[in-house]
Formats: sequence, structure tokens, C-alpha cells
Amino acid sequence: MTHSEFAEYLQVQRSAIDRALERSLRVYHGQTLTVFKAMRYGLFPGGKRIRPTLTLAAGEMFGGKQKDLLPFACAVEMIHAYSIIHDDLPAMDDDDLRRGQPTAHKVFGEGMALLAGDGLLTEAFHLISGPQVLRKLPAELVLQLIHELSHAAGIAGLVGGQAVDLEAENQDVDVATVEYIHVRKTGALILAAIRIGAQVAGAKPGDLRRISKFGEYLGLAFQIADDILDALGVTVTGERAESDHNELKKATYPSVVGIVQATERLQELSRQCDRELAPYGNMAERLQAIAEHVVARAIRQREAQ
Ligand code: IPE
Ligand code: IPE
Ligand code: MG
Ligand code: MG
Ligand code: MG
Repeated sequence: MTHSEFAEYLQVQRSAIDRALERSLRVYHGQTLTVFKAMRYGLFPGGKRIRPTLTLAAGEMFGGKQKDLLPFACAVEMIHAYSIIHDDLPAMDDDDLRRGQPTAHKVFGEGMALLAGDGLLTEAFHLISGPQVLRKLPAELVLQLIHELSHAAGIAGLVGGQAVDLEAENQDVDVATVEYIHVRKTGALILAAIRIGAQVAGAKPGDLRRISKFGEYLGLAFQIADDILDALGVTVTGERAESDHNELKKATYPSVVGIVQATERLQELSRQCDRELAPYGNMAERLQAIAEHVVARAIRQREAQ
């Protein structure tokens, strides 16, 4: 896949995801509650939509249909959007800017931001347990996917990771602790996004195992890349979009092992991702391109500085 084919692919997936997110909120059309506006603010225009794109790519790789995959892709993005709103709150990372715009609590107040996050998290499970999904997929599979997604979002995953991340602030931590945090706060949802796509498509156990290894490597790589970009003080678009008033020392790869070793670890994970996908050849070309994109944006930035 060439660079421009990949850019085009991301764009097409992104609009399909945006349309599906809009459709999923259509039942609330005309809703004027502030909390609903805050939920929409967290979702639109959104960021890179990497997680839902992974759900679609993993599903389509095993022959899944986009219309069956989209509700799950949307649920994953809603959970991501919630986690970001809460992550930015003063009680957590205390950030004023997200994607170059004021954070949700700066616009709507802390209470509303908290509730908007709760609303998005709940809506994710409402969506995938609804009649539209159950008309297309067996109830047993849907239940299994809800079980898996709630596990990834909960204390064994995102919530647990965020909690340890919080406790590790201003502490001296080792690499193992940083990895523990990364795998949970960020890795778990990325892994679930991929595994859910594959399962909607009916991937066989052996394929699911292989794709899960890929998801684990990519999940960790994603947070290391994010930490490298944060450490360099840049965003994907190159402008400085994060606020830097908060001087908290976070448990990150660059802060614990330095940026050189963090970059090496990232490259190693990138090779491991490729190795898991290699047996699939062209079938995995989209997943491979997404993984490469995640890693390359951090490496390129580092080389540019
Ligand atoms: C940011 O995730 C939070 C992390 C888990 C590192 P993304 O980089 O996917 O955020 P957006 O949605 O694209 O802005
Ligand atoms: C965010 O990690 C992880 C989750 C929201 C679960 P960060 O705190 O590093 O993300 P950014 O840098 O604020 O996007
Ligand atoms: Mg954080
Ligand atoms: Mg943060
Ligand atoms: Mg970060």
C-alpha cells in the first residue's frame, strides 16, 4: 500500500465511523441536555479514530462485513472518548487542551465532563447490546464480546491502568511498572478493538491467538509512541496542542529509560507486530499499515528534532 493509498484508506474508514457514530446517537436527536452536548464534544470531530479503524481492519481481514463491525467500532471509540475526557480532568492529568481545543471540563465544567464520560461509557454497551446488533449476530457471541470489552475497559484494563498511572505520579518507577500501566491503560482497549473485530468476523482460534499477539504489541507500542511525542512536545499535526502548565512527573517510557531506549523498544515492538502478521501476507496489509503509521509518527518526529 502506498502512502497516499493508506491516507485515502484512513479517510474512508474515518467517514464511515463518523457516520455510524452519528447514526448511533440519532435516537437522541433534538436532545438539548448539556451533558449530551458534552458527550458529542468528546466524540466530534474526534481524533485519529485508530481504535475503530483497527476493529474494521481486523474484522475485514477475516471476511467480516463493515455493517456488522461498525457498532462495535463505535462502542470502542465511545469508550476511548470517555477515557480521554476523564483523563484530562483536574483530578487526573489536569489538561486544558485536547486536539488543540479546550478540554471538555474547560467548556462544560468538571461535573458535566464527568457525566459526559459516564454517558459515553454506558452508551457504548447500550449500543452493542441493542436490537440492531442482535438482528445480525448470535446473542451468545454478542454477550461474549460485551464481556470482553467490559473486561478491557474495567479494573483489569483501562481503569486499572489509569489508577496505577495516577499512583505512580511523582514516584520513582521501574520499566516493569511503566509497562504494567501501558498495557492496561492503553493496550487493553486496543487489543479488545482488534480481537472484537476478528471475532465478529468469525476468526478461528489460531488466528485469534495470532492477532491477539499483534494487538498486545501494538497496544504497548501505541502508548510508547504517545509518550515519545508528548516528551518531544509535539502532536501528530506538529503543533503544540497539549498544555504544559502541569509539571507532574508521569510514569512514561522516555522518563524512565530515556528517549533513545524508548525509541528502540518501539522499533522492537514494531518488528514483533510485523512478525505476527507476516503469515497473512496481503490479507494483513491494512493492519500492518496502521501499525507502521502508529510507530512511524513517533520515530519521524524524533529524527526530525
Ligand atoms: C490518546 O489516544 C490517548 C492515549 C491512549 C495515548 P489517541 O492518540 O488515539 O487520541 P485521538 O483520539 O487520536 O486524539
Ligand atoms: C491516556 O494516556 C490513557 C487513557 C486515556 C486511558 P495519556 O494521559 O498519556 O494520554 P494523553 O497524552 O493525555 O492523550
Ligand atoms: Mg493520563
Ligand atoms: Mg493525559
Ligand atoms: Mg500522553
